[in-house]
Amino acid sequence: MIDLHSHILPGLDDGSPSLAESLEMARLAVADGTTHMACTPHIVPGMYENGSANIARAVQGLEEALRRAAIPLALYVGADVHIAPDLPEQLALGKVPTLNRSRYFLFEPPHHVLPPRLEDLALRLISAGFIPILTHPERLTWIKSNYDVVERLNAAGCLIQLTADSIVGAFGRTALYYSEKLIDEGRVDIIASDTHGATRRRPGLSQAVAAAAKRCGEDEAHNMVLKRPGQILANRPIEPVGKARAKQAPGNAGRFAGLSRLLKGGTA
Ligand SMILES: [Fe+2]
Repeated sequence: MIDLHSHILPGLDDGSPSLAESLEMARLAVADGTTHMACTPHIVPGMYENGSANIARAVQGLEEALRRAAIPLALYVGADVHIAPDLPEQLALGKVPTLNRSRYFLFEPPHHVLPPRLEDLALRLISAGFIPILTHPERLTWIKSNYDVVERLNAAGCLIQLTADSIVGAFGRTALYYSEKLIDEGRVDIIASDTHGATRRRPGLSQAVAAAAKRCGEDEAHNMVLKRPGQILANRPIEPVGKARAKQAPGNAGRFAGLSRLLKGGTA
């Protein structure tokens, strides 16, 4: 499986505090079936001042440590990018990294406040050639009264990432409710761990895949942790599952969306 959201790099944010913890996180991820992981520390202006250069150096350092420890986990550069008005410019300049230098990047809105110009920013990013992956909308407290914003972002071309722990209920009933609603509506493109440590918010995707498979079928659940993340890392075009669903007959949502894209020739 491929995990596109992790705070495994040591000392860059509120994730792993040490190399020892990062190695333990990697061991846990591999034991759970993860083979590839994007390292996505927070970039929050004024709080976590990370950027492409220091993240790439940290990935190199962890790669060397993984090699020495014989832990078979492939790493990729990325970031968990908080919204900022100059984000299109920062991405275009390469100062803020996308996922493995693709057009895709993790796009994190504030958890408790819906910014008034969020949709405008997403549209500017899309017209600049980037594809925002909206991180864990199910955990945003404003989703309750602003579900239409998530629907419009999805319709505009933003992909949707659920956090694995949300789907198994570890973030509470509201996050579970919206995880299931988003899966049932065929809106979820990827599942990622958003792991922050080896004891708290541990890595691992397999339990979430099993839970998702009960709602959308095994094929589509695997698309969320293997096929689509692989296409993202390879910078191949994929159609957001929400858009694919809109083209389906109502009864065919979710489970058959992945199959139909596969039949279209692997451009899903
Ligand atoms: Fe995150």
